[in-house]
Amino acid sequence: MHMLSTGKLGLSVGVDNYHMPDKDQVFNDELEGMHQNLTNILAENPHYPAMLVRKRSDEAYLDFPEDFFDIVFVDALHDFLSVKVDIVNWRSRIRSGGIIAGVN
Ligand SMILES: C[S@@+](CC[C@H](N)C(=O)[O-])C[C@H]1O[C@@H](n2cnc3c(N)ncnc32)[C@H](O)[C@@H]1O
Repeated sequence: MHMLSTGKLGLSVGVDNYHMPDKDQVFNDELEGMHQNLTNILAENPHYPAMLVRKRSDEAYLDFPEDFFDIVFVDALHDFLSVKVDIVNWRSRIRSGGIIAGVN
């Protein structure tokens, strides 16, 4: 795909809203810290082709055109319905021959 055919690293996009309403403040403070760390790392490496999208996955896919990504890795909410919605939404954003994968 893009990386294999061009030898260049394509754009990496990290989608996460960094907030889980069913978790406590300590957990959500940790998520906030992760977002800050990642933001700092990207600011220190401006040439690295990566961006963070701070949105829920069921909103963020609308920010991208169809047939855009080579690979999508699903790892947001892990209940069946949320994973199913993520697969349905994000598969439209993957190029023909691309990969959708996930965890759990
Ligand atoms: C299920 S896990 C993924 C764990 C992560 N892969 C790791 O190794 O730490 C929790 C992450 O999913 C994010 N998350 C929860 N609900 C989300 C949603 N609807 N859309 C996008 N991200 C979500 C949380 O903010 C949290 O960072």
